Amino acid sequence: MEQIKYIIKERSGKVVIPDNPGFGLLFTDHIFEMDYSPSQGWHNPTIKPLENLSFHPASMVLHYGQAVFEGLKAFRTDDNQAVIFRPQKHIERLNRSARRVCIPELDKDFVMEALKELVSIEQDWIPAKRGEALYIRPFLIGVDSVLGVRPSVKYKFIILLSPVGAYYPEGFKPVKILVTDEYVRAVRKGLGDCKTPANYAASLLAAEEARKKGFTQVLWLDGIEQKYIEEVGTMNIFIHFKDEIATPKLTGSILAGVTRDSVIHILKDWGKNVTERLISIHEVVDAYKNGNLVGVFGTGTAAIISSVGSLTYKDTNMVFNNGKVGELDKKLFDTLTSIHYGQIEDKFNWLTHLSNKGVEV
Ligand code: COI
Repeated sequence: MEQIKYIIKERSGKVVIPDNPGFGLLFTDHIFEMDYSPSQGWHNPTIKPLENLSFHPASMVLHYGQAVFEGLKAFRTDDNQAVIFRPQKHIERLNRSARRVCIPELDKDFVMEALKELVSIEQDWIPAKRGEALYIRPFLIGVDSVLGVRPSVKYKFIILLSPVGAYYPEGFKPVKILVTDEYVRAVRKGLGDCKTPANYAASLLAAEEARKKGFTQVLWLDGIEQKYIEEVGTMNIFIHFKDEIATPKLTGSILAGVTRDSVIHILKDWGKNVTERLISIHEVVDAYKNGNLVGVFGTGTAAIISSVGSLTYKDTNMVFNNGKVGELDKKLFDTLTSIHYGQIEDKFNWLTHLSNKGVEV
């Protein structure tokens, strides 16, 4: 691989991150960008000032959605070190997603180097507050200017950085979720386990309709029988039964969340009975009615751990913990964020440290 080129713009003042940065509203000064062509492979890796992209209006990504992306986070630990949470896992998923939509894969080690370099240059943008982080959005897009439907020949790989706080407008308060059987997000063997824009486009109408009825998000059911719970689209879901903590198994239509995987590891480490299996919505409703349901929570890089205050399916409205954050959800949130900020031992080796250079405070 070529060496990364650096075009660095000196900052005129100190970085100021607003108190409530929201999610994905603010961007850092630089991006990483690299091009692909069949003759040169991935080439021209550059870290440069953030600027608008310029594309031909026929660019394939704009018409046929040939794109994949990732979402991962960098944190500033309590002793002022910059760390990235489980970057290898995200890079592997990026390549898996890329394969599914015919985008040439990236060299994993090179992407790791690019991530570390960019975050290192922008480390003053990493917020220090609990629940806040520097969100890293790598994405791959097909940029041929051709209107015929086929895989693009040329691509771009870009990494964008954004200081973020809580994902949902509720902050870290419990969210209200509507179980939908009106629409389908994905079907097995489709794109559901691929982090591609199509899945998010498929979710917009249902999410908008739910929002108008006062819900935060929708919980999707499987695309065939409309019976098994799948995921929330912006997070995976866990059902806390009295004697089991269950999450939908990865059937191919659900995204294999990195936070989902982290939570499974933590729960197993605590000796909990955690399972990955098919969970029908009727089982959830029955368990609720029989008093066997302790709570429900979601997991995601953006959402971290999000308590579900209520889950509504047809005319059944299930309320958990009086709409407050569940005990287990809080413990998981505290544990995961304590790992993020270096407050407890990183026993699973999830943190990638950038350098010994402290972050400017
Ligand atoms: C994430 O959790 O990183 C996501 O990608 C969810 C959403 C912001 C697209």
